[in-house]
Amino acid sequence: MESALTITEPTKDDLIAALSWQVEAGADEALWDEPSFAHAVTMRLSDVINPESKDTAPIKQPVSAAPAMPAQGEESAPQPASEAPAPATSLAQIQTLEALKQAMADFDKCDLKRTASHLVFSDGNPAAKIMVIGEAPGRDEDRVGLPFVGKAGQMLDHMLASIGLSRDDVYITNILPWRPPGNRTPTSEEIAMMRPFVARHIQLISPDVIFAVGGTSAKSLLQVSDGIMKLRGKRFDLSLPSDNDGPEARYPLLPSLHPAYLLRAPHHKALAFKDLLALRQLARTTRAS
Ligand code: URA
Repeated sequence: MESALTITEPTKDDLIAALSWQVEAGADEALWDEPSFAHAVTMRLSDVINPESKDTAPIKQPVSAAPAMPAQGEESAPQPASEAPAPATSLAQIQTLEALKQAMADFDKCDLKRTASHLVFSDGNPAAKIMVIGEAPGRDEDRVGLPFVGKAGQMLDHMLASIGLSRDDVYITNILPWRPPGNRTPTSEEIAMMRPFVARHIQLISPDVIFAVGGTSAKSLLQVSDGIMKLRGKRFDLSLPSDNDGPEARYPLLPSLHPAYLLRAPHHKALAFKDLLALRQLARTTRAS
C-alpha cells in the first residue's frame, strides 16, 4: 500500500502550541530542519512562551493472525479466544478496512460490545506511514465513535504537533474497539480476543512505523510483560504473517507513553518527546519489509 508522510504547514497557533508542548517537555532551544519551521527556529522558545503560564533493540515477536471469527449462526456466549471454534471466515480473507470494521461490528464474543455505545474503529489517514495504537476508547470516544477525541486526544494532537504532524499524517486506532465500562483496565481475555483483529488492521494499513502508546498497547502487541518505562526508548520489530505464504512482514514499533499518562505526569513529557523525535526519524528512514 502506498503511504505518505505529509508535513503540513503549521499556523502560528500550531507553532505556539507545539513550542509550548516542547518547553513543557524540557526542550529549551528549537533546532528544526524543515524549512516550514524556519520562522520558528530563529526564536528561542522562551521568547514566545510565557514560562508561567535510539537505542535499537529489535525483537521479533510474531502476532498470530489466526482469527477468532464467529461461525454463522453460532451462539454468542462469551468464550476465551483460545477456545473459539474454527472460524467460518478467516480474517486473512478480509481485504478492506470497511470489511474489517464490519467484521468487528459483527463479532459478538466480546462482552465489551454490550456495554459500549459505539464501535470505535479508527481515525486519521489510512495511507499514513505512522500508525498510532492506543488502548481502548474512553467516555468521549465511546460517545463520538472516534479514537482519541477527549483530553487524551488533545494531548496526542499536541504530541504530534511537536514533531510537525497532525492527525491527517497518522492513522489512529486502539487495541480494543469498545470502551471498558467505567474505563477499567481491559482484561487479558478481552485483549487476546481482539488481538487478531488488531493484527489484520496492521496488515491492511501496512504502516512503516507503529507508535504504540501506553503499556497495554505495547505489551499486547509485543506479547511481553515488561512495563512501558522499560519498553519505551527502544525500537522493536513486530512480525506478522503474509497473506499468501510469502515472507513475514516486519513492522518497526516504538513504544511510548500514553497521552493520558502525560496529563497525569507532565514531568515525563521529556521522555515522550524523545520518543516522538525517534518516531519522526524512523518514519523518514524506514519502509516496512
Ligand atoms: N485512550 C486510548 O487509549 N484510546 C482512546 O481512543 C482514548 C483514550
